[in-house]
Amino acid sequence: MYATRLPNRPPTPVNPDGHPHSAVAEAHPNIALVKYWGKRDAALNLPVVGSLSITLDRLRTRTRVRFVPESGADQVVLNGRASEAEARRVGACLDLLREAAGIDWRAEVASGNDFPTAAGLASSASGFAALVLAGSAALGLDLPPSRLSVLARRGSGSAARSIFGGFVEWAHGERADGSDSLARPLLGAAEWPLGVAVAVTSTAAKEIGSSEGMGRTAMTSPYQRAWVEGQEANLAEARRAVLARDFEALADISEHSCLKMHALALAARPGLLYWNGASVECMHRLRALRRSGVPVFFTIDAGPQVKAVCLPEARAAVAAALREVRGVLEVLECGLGEGARLIEDGAAADAER
Ligand code: PMV
Repeated sequence: MYATRLPNRPPTPVNPDGHPHSAVAEAHPNIALVKYWGKRDAALNLPVVGSLSITLDRLRTRTRVRFVPESGADQVVLNGRASEAEARRVGACLDLLREAAGIDWRAEVASGNDFPTAAGLASSASGFAALVLAGSAALGLDLPPSRLSVLARRGSGSAARSIFGGFVEWAHGERADGSDSLARPLLGAAEWPLGVAVAVTSTAAKEIGSSEGMGRTAMTSPYQRAWVEGQEANLAEARRAVLARDFEALADISEHSCLKMHALALAARPGLLYWNGASVECMHRLRALRRSGVPVFFTIDAGPQVKAVCLPEARAAVAAALREVRGVLEVLECGLGEGARLIEDGAAADAER
């Protein structure tokens, strides 16, 4: 059951003795229509290009962060299982919050996704957006969404965008410290409520994560320079399409950006092939639908799932068509959703599972 919504800001600082040092937040994955691929600084997760995304509504990460007034290692339970690898990544992000609050307490983090983790469904984006919001609230830090976006970016680049709902743009920024590389909302979810059908074609974790893939691409793909040089024009085109609510124009630029990102990665050595056979079949099916007059386009990230974006009235037909494609395991239907938000503690039992 969904919890009562609280304002999209942590509570104001409280008396440390009365503060529970615990908070729960939820956030949704986002899907880039103009893709981010490539880092100008790997440690700070600074991108070489800007990107533009939509935040989904149905798929959700819910995260509880509790700070314990003692030193020692952070504890992270992800979907009910303790994870040391995640504890390091999460701990590094929480260090930024501990530094801001001037404390060195360890944290207990429990996070649950209601969708497949690490399979190209941007679970790290919703995960780190929920983490920094819950973590900052647990410490009584009153941070604006722009600052949360910068912090979420440090955990996973695309998490910068999941702080906001609807259509979101993330700037590559110019500064070496990354303080200007943050996302901002472009258009609210309700202002152009597109539908999304996600065709899940595999639930396995991907072999090459996006950071490794981006590094390999930058080092070896002959198309890297063209990719960077073309991005500003692609972003301007997508921004215009979103603000004019021009579906055809958004469809054209989004499929172009998706295929261009994959062409860039395919040309790395060894080449990065994130699709399976069903991913390719889905693209053909969606192109045929669009040719027949259905307002839909596809996009794919660093994994084999295919995301079909459509006008809301076409969603059921698009989902039905994808369910017929051989190799499609499941189709998740979503709309556009809100940014990260705090929820009441008592309603968050599924973060613990
Ligand atoms: O932020 P990461 O490391 O999850 O990388 C995201 C990369 C893509 O999903 C392929 C593109 C994007 O802009 O989200």
